[in-house]
Amino acid sequence: MLTRREFFRLISSGYVLLTASTTPFVGSRLVASDKSGRFRFPQGVASADPQPSSIVLWTRVEHTPNVEQTDTLLTLQVSKEENLESVVIDQAVKAPVDRDYTVRVVLGGLEPSTTYCYRFLAPDGTSSPIGRTWTSPEHDDTVPLSAAVASCQHYTHGYFSPYRRLINDDVVASEDRKVDLIIHTGDFLYEMDFVDITDLNRNKVSLSNPDGSQRTVMPFPDGEKKPNGWTIACSLNDFRHLYKKYISDPDLMEARRLYPFVYVWDDHELLNDYWQSHLGSKVYQNRKVDANQAWFEFMPCALNSAWKGPVGKNHAKDFVHPGPLVDEQEPMFDDDYLNLEPNNQKAINSISIYRSLKWGKLVDLFAIDGRSYRGDRGVPKEILSVGVVPYPTDPLDPAFVETMNAGRTANNGNPPEKVVYEGKEVDNVRKDAPVGSLLGRKQKDWLKRSLEESSATWKTVINNTPFMRFGFDVSFKKGGTTGGIFWSDSWDGYPIERREMMKFIRDHGIPNVVSLTGDRHAHYAAYIYDDYDGDNPVSVIPEFACASISAPCRILSQNTVTRNNPDLADLVVGDGEALGYPNKMSPTLNAWQIYGALSARAAAKGDLVEAEKQKRTDINPHILYADNDAYGFLIAHYGTERLEVEFVSTQEPVQKYGDDGPSQIRKVVYSVDSWGSGEAPTLKFKKLEGEEPLLGIRKPA
Ligand SMILES: [Fe+2]
Repeated sequence: MLTRREFFRLISSGYVLLTASTTPFVGSRLVASDKSGRFRFPQGVASADPQPSSIVLWTRVEHTPNVEQTDTLLTLQVSKEENLESVVIDQAVKAPVDRDYTVRVVLGGLEPSTTYCYRFLAPDGTSSPIGRTWTSPEHDDTVPLSAAVASCQHYTHGYFSPYRRLINDDVVASEDRKVDLIIHTGDFLYEMDFVDITDLNRNKVSLSNPDGSQRTVMPFPDGEKKPNGWTIACSLNDFRHLYKKYISDPDLMEARRLYPFVYVWDDHELLNDYWQSHLGSKVYQNRKVDANQAWFEFMPCALNSAWKGPVGKNHAKDFVHPGPLVDEQEPMFDDDYLNLEPNNQKAINSISIYRSLKWGKLVDLFAIDGRSYRGDRGVPKEILSVGVVPYPTDPLDPAFVETMNAGRTANNGNPPEKVVYEGKEVDNVRKDAPVGSLLGRKQKDWLKRSLEESSATWKTVINNTPFMRFGFDVSFKKGGTTGGIFWSDSWDGYPIERREMMKFIRDHGIPNVVSLTGDRHAHYAAYIYDDYDGDNPVSVIPEFACASISAPCRILSQNTVTRNNPDLADLVVGDGEALGYPNKMSPTLNAWQIYGALSARAAAKGDLVEAEKQKRTDINPHILYADNDAYGFLIAHYGTERLEVEFVSTQEPVQKYGDDGPSQIRKVVYSVDSWGSGEAPTLKFKKLEGEEPLLGIRKPA
């Protein structure tokens, strides 16, 4: 039997490399023993949601030819030894045909803080790869936690090689810094292939599989063709197809094999920018059920069996198919913007994923669902300029977004009939709408009570989208604001509920609440204020957002919106060659977000002296670090006195880096000491390794 410490010692000592044929963790990791060629485990194995006495284990089996389409019986073996010589569990598990031969086992009766190895055996003895996982500490133990955070992986835009960097770094990390969990904050997959995306050197991205074929998710089994030429997933078979493709990436598969994950979803697991079962005024109730089912099949997590949490209530629930639904157009909104129409209700309630997890006495994790109960986005689709991406082409005045979010409660219950959008007077389509909630009433009440009653040192919200305000300085335009809003699909589109949450935490004196998130395809460290538009905003919690694994980094995505806007294009992307920057595209967006438009514009031209001169101190003062051409992940190291967060940026994942993985380009480290009730957090810059992000680390004025 090996402790976790011994385990890592073996791997880092080279012992495993020398004896690869008899050890599961190198060499044999993806190639299972194959007895008859009839069974395969093409998506490997995975584990998730560790609890002190249980863990969720997962695999998927393929059986060729399986003309009968029958359930397959597998044997699950679990051991405390890496070679599985003596097993503590040996039991039959079913891979049902109606779950696409996926298996999720909630395995109980385990010991806390213990490493387990496991595999699945097919009827002919063919073995899956051997997975490694562990249980969490006893609830009253104080054990440090290192949680990696990943988000936003796009199969055709990049290899998932940042995971390989994480795995390799972890082998040589000291015992107290080794990764215990990988939290995935959503956009585990994208419902479509991106087309015509370039890398940071303006080369067209074209990825290949090991056999030389193009790395693509096309063709879908079904697929819906969009007017812009894109095809998106639209059926259960399509979503299953996506998960199979995505998990076949060897680096992602390896990460799932080696670490327990904690998953939440964002929008792309179904449809860009969806809310409840809607997108704009269209409904996708059957599609929401299909996406929920596929997520449940491929993303192991404890729902029915989740820890009840500090308030003794667990709303999480396994997927149950509600039967065929009518895609009903006519909504029936309640005061929280929840559509009570029965087909919408059945669709969104076919699963419930928000839940609590606990890491001893040190950390409570609150995983939220920011999609299934939210009201329509801050700025309605009806009044957005709809191009390839339905975003405003200019940042919006926060007061406009506030009016949209407030609906019928705007202006003390007298909402304007007309609003001005991009210089045009348009009907206020929200004048009769309820206030837009992002969490929904029930989840919000649960989250508030959970935060209030948690006795853990650290209380962490796993957020699918950042809380932080992203203000864009357009004060160089006549009447322009210093803090315009671009992204109303995230919390910036729901400012009223953000204030409510932050004031709740502040007024109840709940210390050491932290948000971990992703979604924006960039690294950010920031404070969340009680009221960004108030006279004296107070920082309530810190937030750490990780860059994407492989979805286009922020400046590439933002460039698709702003490149034809002569006022804004150079505030996002500058001339890298003029700066001697490693890539042709340089991230002037960093400076736009931290120092304002004029500093960014000078940087775009390569004039860093002028960029320095033009710095303002009143632009997003809450954002301390913005790294908009980064790919990678972050690791949050929780201790009793301090939380330290390492932001790791890797080489752009558009090359094949093999088992070495992409190199680290930089690491930026911030820390926050635990703070007391009634106090405010203070983020400290700790360290920069590698090249500095272009004007991306706020320096004291
Ligand atoms: Fe994303």
